[in-house]
Amino acid sequence: IDLERLNLLKSKIGEYPDFPKKGINFKDIFTAFRDGKVCAATKNLVLNYVKKNHPNIDAVVGLDARGFLFSFLIAAEMEIGCVPIRKKGKLPGKTEKVEYNLEYGTDIFEVQSDSIKPGQKVVIIDDLLATGGSLKAANELIKKCGGIVEANIVILELRSINGRKNLDVPVFSFIQYA
Ligand code: PRP
Ligand code: MG
Repeated sequence: IDLERLNLLKSKIGEYPDFPKKGINFKDIFTAFRDGKVCAATKNLVLNYVKKNHPNIDAVVGLDARGFLFSFLIAAEMEIGCVPIRKKGKLPGKTEKVEYNLEYGTDIFEVQSDSIKPGQKVVIIDDLLATGGSLKAANELIKKCGGIVEANIVILELRSINGRKNLDVPVFSFIQYA
């Protein structure tokens, strides 16, 4: 039944050639979420996977902005904390910072220093893995806080870019593009 859900989601992902730059074929998960059945299917897919494979995590970390769609769902279902990693200047209090390269451009990611306690186990979730720059920075941030990253989880993976090579934790993607 999860294969059905997976195929439904995959069939509804939007593709926008030459966005935001020429040569990039933008995969738009929000196009799929116009359909409530796809929202429900995606919710089930993600929750089933994380509960089964990471039952003992202490918190789930979501990446600004589209990662938040999934991190809160997991946190609410598993009754664990939900921690945001945000683009610079958005988080109050003391923060850790890491600069990173995006598929297009550069940015700074931040996490609140006290949002993860040393020794806590987390998974980090986002919508898409491209170059892996975002997740690499996220992994560094959680380590700076003393957290242990069990895995990086994404809905979509662009395989040809091989962003996985930049990630030193297990990576799982639900849907892969060549
Ligand atoms: C996109 C996407 C991932 C990241 C993947 O986010 O949502 O977070 O790029 O690229 P990478 O693997 O090359 O780092 P983006 O920074 O465009 O912003 P958004 O999620 O806030 O829309
Ligand atoms: Mg993003």
